[in-house]
Amino acid sequence: MNGKQAAGYRAVEWVEPGMTVGLGTGSTAYWAIQRIGERVKQEGLEIRAIATSKASEKLAKELNIPLYEAADIPHIDLTIDGADEVNPQMDLIKGGGGALLREKMVALKSDKLIVVADSSKDVNVLGTFKLPIEVVPFASEWTLDLLRRRYEVPMDFRQNEGSIYITDNGNYIIDAAFGRIEETGKLADELKATTGVVDHGLFVGIAKTVVLGNEDGTVSVRTK
Ligand code: A5P
Repeated sequence: MNGKQAAGYRAVEWVEPGMTVGLGTGSTAYWAIQRIGERVKQEGLEIRAIATSKASEKLAKELNIPLYEAADIPHIDLTIDGADEVNPQMDLIKGGGGALLREKMVALKSDKLIVVADSSKDVNVLGTFKLPIEVVPFASEWTLDLLRRRYEVPMDFRQNEGSIYITDNGNYIIDAAFGRIEETGKLADELKATTGVVDHGLFVGIAKTVVLGNEDGTVSVRTK
């Protein structure tokens, strides 16, 4: 069992019958969804689930995990999701897989967000991983230009096999190489307040539990 699988499996120990659970996106959340699927099949675990991406929705359907539309979910007990970077304050960069907007909406609706990651995601300062910024397609070149002038760091539209990458919400993503993000809250607020930006991959003060999986299959759990 590698670090991603170990972290994903450990987090599913928090899932209890009757809960409404948010299903994250990516190669670590994949293992949590697999484990939930196993529990549904083997134990008859009864939960309600909502997915943070079309990819996770497809996986959950294959595993017979009961999925609900957002309109039918007034409250989420627990969401398990991955991260691209985690700092000691449990602030995150997310969105490497492009699902940041739905991930943030689901996380903010949840009583608890459990982040699952292998130990390579554990960093002192966020920003080595390029920060994904979701923007509306209309005049997206203006938004890119504005952000380039404001921050003076390399950034560009995400590509997918030679074409511009399009999110599940029909938007574009700008990946910005900040290098070191010292003031996560300030940057998060500035980006959120920028017209043309839908949301960004900084998750500040949202995660209270992080499960880090090591290559030997052990995990360490951080809470605050
Ligand atoms: C999806 O958009 C992301 O936020 C993922 O949660 C993040 O990229 C972590 O993915 P991995 O677990 O595949 O590294």
